[in-house]
Amino acid sequence: MIGVFDSGIGGLTVVKALLEQVPGHDITYLGDTARTPYGSKSADTIIRYSINNTGFLLRKGARLIVIACNTASSYAFEAVREQYHLPVFEVIEPGARQAVERSRRLRIGVIGTRATIASGGYERAIKALRPEAKVVTAACPLLVPLVEEGWIRKAETAMIVRKYMHPLKTMQIDTLILGCTHYPVLRKVIQRKIGARVVLVDSANAIAQRVGHYFNTHPSDGPQNDRPGRLKIFVTDTADQFQRSARLILGRSVHIELADL
Ligand code: DGL
Repeated sequence: MIGVFDSGIGGLTVVKALLEQVPGHDITYLGDTARTPYGSKSADTIIRYSINNTGFLLRKGARLIVIACNTASSYAFEAVREQYHLPVFEVIEPGARQAVERSRRLRIGVIGTRATIASGGYERAIKALRPEAKVVTAACPLLVPLVEEGWIRKAETAMIVRKYMHPLKTMQIDTLILGCTHYPVLRKVIQRKIGARVVLVDSANAIAQRVGHYFNTHPSDGPQNDRPGRLKIFVTDTADQFQRSARLILGRSVHIELADL
């Protein structure tokens, strides 16, 4: 079973991509809604929460962990890997690689939470691949609460996105990494405000491809039966809004259980 966690609803964009890429696998998702957002927390706290979340998924039977959160990937990837000896996937490197491959002029923008941007993780990952790339970053702290609230088509959201996109537009980026798993939900409005010519890179697809490749090269870790994979969703706080947003992202209703971490 694949264990996936995020601070809230955003990681479901990764689950959606995994359901398409590795359909036979069971997935257990943990949305840490009681402690969201992670993007404004310290590195120590993000690491502690991530280790805690991984422990819960292991107790549920996970054999592979996907950190479906850019903030947790930026700070806790090494710690989770050291603590638990099993394959762990993070979103930063696959997203950076996809951006470098798709950018024509290597002028790459990155948006994310305050913590993700402050970590410098995307910049390092991009420069490791192409040192000559120009990287422009912007923290967009208001976007996660807007997505958690389901404010997807509101005029206020469009106004805030426009304000965040302005400095990136001025820098004439040709590619923009949606460096937070919540942001693909706002993809349309982001594309409208940044301009149709800018390529949007979404790390959800990039990480799902990486997991697909892992199973192709490790067939013995694959599902042992032919039935479709089962999806289980846990949250750490009751949230009706989570149910509505999950339907929006996954396109179907899901059963949500309360996690006892
Ligand atoms: N979805 C998370 C990310 O990818 C973060 C949201 C948050 O908790 O701040 O960074």
